[in-house]
Amino acid sequence: MRKIMIIGAGDLGVRVCHELAHSDRRWEVRLVGRAEDEVRRHVNLIRFSALQRGYKSRVDHALADLDDVDRTAEVIAGFAPDVVFLAASLQSWWVIGTLPAERFQRLYAANFGPWLPMHLVPVHKAMLAVRAAGSGAIVVNAAYPDAVHPVLAGVGLAPHVGIGNVANNVPALRCSAAEILGTAPAEVDVRVVTHHYVSHRLSRTSDIDPSQLRIAILAGGRDAMPDVGLTPLLKPLTTEYRRTGGLAGQAMTAASAMSVLVPLLERREAVVHAPGPLGLPGGYPVVVGPGPVRLALPPGMTDEEALAVNRSGQVEDGIREIGDDGSVLFEESAMDVMRRELGYHCVKMPLSDAEDRARELGARFARYREGVPR
Ligand SMILES: NC(=O)c1ccc[n+]([C@@H]2O[C@H](COP(=O)([O-])OP(=O)(O)OC[C@H]3O[C@@H](n4cnc5c(N)ncnc54)[C@H](OP(=O)(O)O)[C@@H]3O)[C@@H](O)[C@H]2O)c1
Repeated sequence: MRKIMIIGAGDLGVRVCHELAHSDRRWEVRLVGRAEDEVRRHVNLIRFSALQRGYKSRVDHALADLDDVDRTAEVIAGFAPDVVFLAASLQSWWVIGTLPAERFQRLYAANFGPWLPMHLVPVHKAMLAVRAAGSGAIVVNAAYPDAVHPVLAGVGLAPHVGIGNVANNVPALRCSAAEILGTAPAEVDVRVVTHHYVSHRLSRTSDIDPSQLRIAILAGGRDAMPDVGLTPLLKPLTTEYRRTGGLAGQAMTAASAMSVLVPLLERREAVVHAPGPLGLPGGYPVVVGPGPVRLALPPGMTDEEALAVNRSGQVEDGIREIGDDGSVLFEESAMDVMRRELGYHCVKMPLSDAEDRARELGARFARYREGVPR
C-alpha cells in the first residue's frame, strides 16, 4: 500500500488529508503536526466523517516539531512514506488579509516576496529532516514553491515539485476558453507559464502585463489561443468566473494539491500545473507520475523563454534575484513598503539569515497587528 505523509496540520494540510481520506483508493495517510490534541482531533474528524460515508481509509497522526530536525527525521523514517506533502508555514499568505482593510491594503502593496522567510524556514527544515531520514520520498510543497524551491535548489534541498498558484487558475481558464470556442471545458486543455505574482492576480484584476504570462489553449489538436485572444480569455476570471478567495478559497488549493498527489501515489503519468518543479522559479505545466517530474511547456516554447517569463514575475513579486547559492536579493520598492509599514528592511538575505529574518518579521507583524507604534 502506498503511503503519504502530510507535514503541517493547518488549514491546507487538514483539507488535503480530508480529501485523501474521503476516497476508497488504497493508500495510508499520516498527518504530522506539533500540537497533540489539535492534530488528534483533526484526524478523528477526518476518519469518522470518512467512515460515515463508507470509506475504508487508513489515516492516523504523528507528532513532530520541524524545529527538531532529528525528531522529524525519526517520524519520517518510521513511516517510510512514498510521498511527503509539506503544508507548514510560519505565516500563511491569508494572514495579512485578517488586518483591518486599510492597513491590509498598505501592506499588500509590498507583494509576497518579502514574506519569503516565513515559508522558506519550515520547508528548509523539513527537507533537512527528509535527507536525515534517508527517505527517497517524492516531496511536494505548498509553501510559496515559486521562490522557496529555487532558493533551496542552491543547497541541493529543493522539494521535487510544488502545488497551487499557477494551477489554481487552470479550471477557470479552461471554462473561459471553452465558452469562447463554443465547446465544453472537458474538450479544452491549457498550458500556462507564469509566476505566483500573476497567478495570484488573475482572479482579482484584468490589468495583467502579457509579457509575464504565456498560455496555449489546446483544442481540436492545435493551439487555439489566436482565436481566443488574451483579454477575452482573462476578463471573465475577474467577473463571472471569479471564485471565493481567502481561507474558504483554499478548497481550490487542496484540489490543485490532489491533482499532483494522486498521480504520484498511483504512479500514473499526468500533465498538471505546478510551481517550483526542478527547483525552478515560478509556475509551469509539468508531467508527474512514476518518473522524474519534467516540464510540459506550451508548444514551441523553450525552457529559457519559460524561465524568463517567470523571472520577470518574480521581480514583480518583490524578489530581484535568487543566487546559485540560495541567497536572495529583494526589490527595494517592496522593501520600502515593508520599512514604512513594519519597520522591517532586508535587501540581501543569505539562506543562513532566513530564520532570524522570519523571527523578526513575525515579531514586527504582531506589533503592527496590535497597532503598536514601531
Ligand atoms: N501554493 C498555493 O496555491 C497555496 C495556497 C494556499 C496556501 N499556501 C501555502 O501553504 C502553506 C500552508 O498554508 P495554511 O493556510 O494551511 O497555513 P496555516 O493554517 O497557518 O498552517 C500552517 C501550519 O504550519 C505549522 N507549522 C509551523 N511551524 C511548524 C513547525 N516548526 N513544526 C510543525 N508545524 C509547523 C503550523 O503549526 P501550528 O498550528 O502548531 O502553529 C500550522 O499548522 C502556507 O505557506 C501558505 O501560504 C499555498
